[in-house]
Amino acid sequence: MGRMKTRLAVLGSGSGSNCQSIFNAIDDGRLDAEVVIVLSDNPEAFILKRAAQRGVPTGILDCHGFKNKFPEEEQSALAERLKEMQVDLICLAGFMRLVKQPLLDVFPRRILNIHPALLPKFPGVEAWKQALEAGAEQTGCTVHYVDAGMDTGEIIMQAYVPVLAGDTPETLHARIQVQEHILYPAAIQSALSRL
Ligand code: GRF
Repeated sequence: MGRMKTRLAVLGSGSGSNCQSIFNAIDDGRLDAEVVIVLSDNPEAFILKRAAQRGVPTGILDCHGFKNKFPEEEQSALAERLKEMQVDLICLAGFMRLVKQPLLDVFPRRILNIHPALLPKFPGVEAWKQALEAGAEQTGCTVHYVDAGMDTGEIIMQAYVPVLAGDTPETLHARIQVQEHILYPAAIQSALSRL
C-alpha cells in the first residue's frame, strides 16, 4: 500500500469557491492531498453542497446561536474529531469565526487561512472594501498560518491584484478571487511539502 495522501479538512461559511479550487487542483494533480471533510457553521452555506456533490462528508459546527463566536467546547470537540480522522491540515476557506485554543494547540502550524488582501495590510472583514476606501493602488490575497490573532499568522504566499479606475467592491473582490483560486492550492501544496 502506498503512503496515505495528506488529509485536509476545509472549514467555510459561504459559497466555497476556494474549496472548489482545492477540489479542482486535486483533480488536475496540482495538489497531492484529499479533502476528507468539509465543515460549516452555516447549514445553508453553498460550500456544503459543493462537498456533497463530490461525495465528501460534511458536518455542521454548532455555534450555539452566537453570531461571531466559535464556542470553546465546540472547538475542543472539533479538535478531537479531526485528530481521530487523522487530518493533517485544516484549511479555512471563507470561515467567518476566529479559531483559538484548543484547536491551535492540537494543530500547531497546521491551520491555514486565505485572506483577500496583502497582509499585514487590511486584516479583518471586507478587506477588498478597505483597500478601495484607503485608495490603495494594489491589493491582493494572502495565505498564512493561523495563530491566535486576527489574520496575523506567518505568511506562506501572496498574489498581487491591481486596483483599477472604476473598481467597485464587487469587481475588485471578483478579481481577487480569481487569484485566490490559483494561490490557495499552491500554498497548501507548499505547506504540506514542509509538514
Ligand atoms: C474569500 O474572498 C476569502 O479570501 C475570504 O472569504 C472569501 C470566501 O469566498 N476569507 P469563498 O466562500 O471561498 O467563495
